[in-house]
Amino acid sequence: MFDFQYYTPTKVVFGKNTESRVADLIKEFGGKKVLIHYGGGSVVRSGLLSRVTDTLDQAGIAYVTLGGAVPNPHLGLVYEGIELCKKEGVDFLLAVGGGSAIDSAKAIGYGVANEGDVWDYYDYKRKVNACLPLGVILTIAATGSEMSDSSVITKEEGLVKRGYSSDFGRPKFAIMNPELTMTLPDYQTACGCTDIMMHTMERYFTQGGNMEITDALAEGLLRTVKKNAVILRDDPRNYEARAEVMWAGSLAHNGLTGCGNDGGDWMTHKLEHELGGLYDVAHGAGLAAIWGTWARFVFENCLPRFKKFALNVMEVSDEGTDEEIALRGIEAMEDFYRSINMPTNLRELGVNPTEEELALMAKKCAVGVGGEKGSAKVLNEEDMLAIYRASM
Ligand code: NZQ
Ligand code: ZN
Repeated sequence: MFDFQYYTPTKVVFGKNTESRVADLIKEFGGKKVLIHYGGGSVVRSGLLSRVTDTLDQAGIAYVTLGGAVPNPHLGLVYEGIELCKKEGVDFLLAVGGGSAIDSAKAIGYGVANEGDVWDYYDYKRKVNACLPLGVILTIAATGSEMSDSSVITKEEGLVKRGYSSDFGRPKFAIMNPELTMTLPDYQTACGCTDIMMHTMERYFTQGGNMEITDALAEGLLRTVKKNAVILRDDPRNYEARAEVMWAGSLAHNGLTGCGNDGGDWMTHKLEHELGGLYDVAHGAGLAAIWGTWARFVFENCLPRFKKFALNVMEVSDEGTDEEIALRGIEAMEDFYRSINMPTNLRELGVNPTEEELALMAKKCAVGVGGEKGSAKVLNEEDMLAIYRASM
């Protein structure tokens, strides 16, 4: 077991109609002038945005709005948000939407609260010293950004997608009403379940330091999401299943399932981020398309963990060698992805990179991780290219 620090300052307000408490929560955290930041319009169409602005109007809280955060959110809108906040004297950010709106809001918060170019943080040149306080109304269970320290932004020039992590970016509050996720397209629900499971799996497939309690939490979380993803495929308006998945999404990425282990592997995420940057694919689908190939590439190097996963999460038979059991677990995971209509290779994801594009992604990925990265197995640029090739 490794030493660890666990910091989750976000106040979670969970359940039906909890968005009606947004004005009180903004006041509790000192907000007087708010930027409401959202995505491509789902919150307009669902009526959520006007319910939020009505609540703020009634409470006498001033606000400005900025929509347009796209999936794989762009740096250009972050700059626009920073300017708007400075011009309007905004002192509180409210992200209404999913990971993209939340991450874009975190970047705006860094840009307003620190001097200089905000991209420097995502380019690992400097560290932030502050962030504007941020609250969230979550509309999709997926990234865990509502409690996480991360923000992932794509710079349009060169299509560079990078993540930056800082405790300053953790939201002050997260309002989570599972009913708000019922308008999601089935594809996005499945992408979200995939991402949630991956956040726990990245922390699970590591070398050493594992604690029984952390493993039990991780395996329970994975089994719960696996089960409820199938329920939601058949019954998208099932409130209990929406709630299970939504809370799992936060717990999967607030650090809980990483306590005591060595910090996580994260290579499936890093490989996906290049796909997301170049082809604009949905994050969860990109992860599903890469994971099986990554797993087959690394499993022999991390065999006890893959065997444990196969038996305790995928619940496969324990017959045969450890390698056979581990491989059966990987196959079962891919069967699960297919069962919720997620891709298991790049072709099914709908992208068909040329050899030059595969090499470019491997190169950018290696640069992004500082040369090599991984815990289940440390991967270099050559390994990354081999995984991209094999996932075609
Ligand atoms: O943009 P709108 O119109 O709101 O539509 C969104 C978008 O098209 C739609 N949607 C969201 N809630 C909805 C809804 N449609 C109908 N009803 C609702 N209730 O769903 C689509 C996806 O939304 P988005 O916010 O992009 O999804 P997600 O939460 O999966 O965020 C993805 C981004 O987060 C990053 C990803 O790389 C990607 O850029 N990540 C952020 C992390 C973090 N900050 O901790 C960790 C993750 O690993 C991930 O990298
Ligand atoms: Zn993710």
